Amino acid sequence: MNDGRVSRGGPLFRDFANVWTPVAFGSSLPRDRPVQLTVAGTSLALFRDESGVPAALIDRCPHRGAALSLGRLEGGRVQCPYHGWTFDRAGRCVHVPWNPGVKRASLGTLAVPTREFGGYVWIYTSVSMEPIAPPTLDDSLLGRDVRLTGIELRWQAHWTRAMENMLDAPHLPFVHRATIGKEWVPLAGQRMDSAIEDHPWGWRVRNVLNGAPRPGMLDFRWPNQMNLHIPMRRRALTLAVTCVPIDERRTRLLLVTARDFARLPLLDWLFNRFNRRVANEDRAIVESSFPSEIPPARAEMSVRTDAVTLRFRTSYFARLKDSSSGLPAPGPAPMGAAGGG
Ligand code: FES
Ligand SMILES: [Fe+2]
Repeated sequence: MNDGRVSRGGPLFRDFANVWTPVAFGSSLPRDRPVQLTVAGTSLALFRDESGVPAALIDRCPHRGAALSLGRLEGGRVQCPYHGWTFDRAGRCVHVPWNPGVKRASLGTLAVPTREFGGYVWIYTSVSMEPIAPPTLDDSLLGRDVRLTGIELRWQAHWTRAMENMLDAPHLPFVHRATIGKEWVPLAGQRMDSAIEDHPWGWRVRNVLNGAPRPGMLDFRWPNQMNLHIPMRRRALTLAVTCVPIDERRTRLLLVTARDFARLPLLDWLFNRFNRRVANEDRAIVESSFPSEIPPARAEMSVRTDAVTLRFRTSYFARLKDSSSGLPAPGPAPMGAAGGG
C-alpha cells in the first residue's frame, strides 16, 4: 500500500466527504509500521494500534509537515520520522522529544474514524464529523459459511467512471463477449429494461428482457460498492466491487468473491484470476472515457438503458460532488477522534 503521494493543502476528501468507504483489505495492513494510502486526494497514515485495531491520521505532522506514514510505530502510536513527535490513534500528541513539560494538549493532529469490518479496513471521510452509524455490508459477504477472497487493482480513471461501469449491463455483450457477456451476445437485438428497487443502503436492479426478468440481481450500495448476485442453483456466489477514489485520475478497485461452495482456500486463485480477467476487459475502455470524471447527465447522450448509471450520476452530483471536510481552525483539542473496532 503506497500511493506515492504525500498531503496537499486545502480541503480534505474533496468530492467524497462524510461517507464510509472500504479503503483496503485488512490482511494488507501490517501490525508493525504505518502505511501510506491516498483517499480522494487526501494522504493518510494508516496503522494498527496496540490492540491491532486500525487507525488513520492525516499524513502530515503538525510540527513541520512531514509525512507521518514515513515514521515508525512505537507501542501502537505513530512516531513522526523527523523529530519524533508521537501521536495516538485519536491524533493526540503523546510525546515531544527534548521538551519535557511542553503542553502537548495543543499539539495534536487530525484523525479519521476507522473500522475493520467484513475483511475490509474502512474510513469515514471526515476529520470533523463522527459517523452517525457504522458501515454495513450485504449479508452475502458476512455469513459464517462463506469463503471470501479478493484482489486489489488500480485503474487510471476517476472512480465515478469505474463505478458506473460496474452498474452498467448494456456493455456486457460488447466488452465481455468472451466471458460474462457471452450469453448476452445473441440477445442484444431485444428490448432491455431495468427494474429498480429502492433500499435504505442504495438500490437493487434486475434486468428485464422483452418484459421477462432475467435471473440474478445487482445491488448498488451508496456510495461506491456494487454487489452482483450471480444466479446459481442452491448456491450463493456474489461478486463485490468497491471503487475507492485515490485522486482525480486514479481508482483503487477492491474485487471480492463470496462463495458458499468450493470453499477450499486453495481454490481462491481461480476466482481471483477470473475477476482479474473480466476487470481487465473493462479497464482500457473506462480509462479511455473522456472526461475522466463523469459529467452532468445533460453533457452526454443517453438512452433508456442508461437509467441505472444516470441514477448514480444524479446521486453523485447531489450528495458528493463539491463536498469536502475542511481543516478545523487551530484549537486546543484534536478533532475527529477515531473510533475503536
Ligand atoms: S515534523 Fe514531525 S516531529 Fe517535526
Ligand atoms: Fe464490465
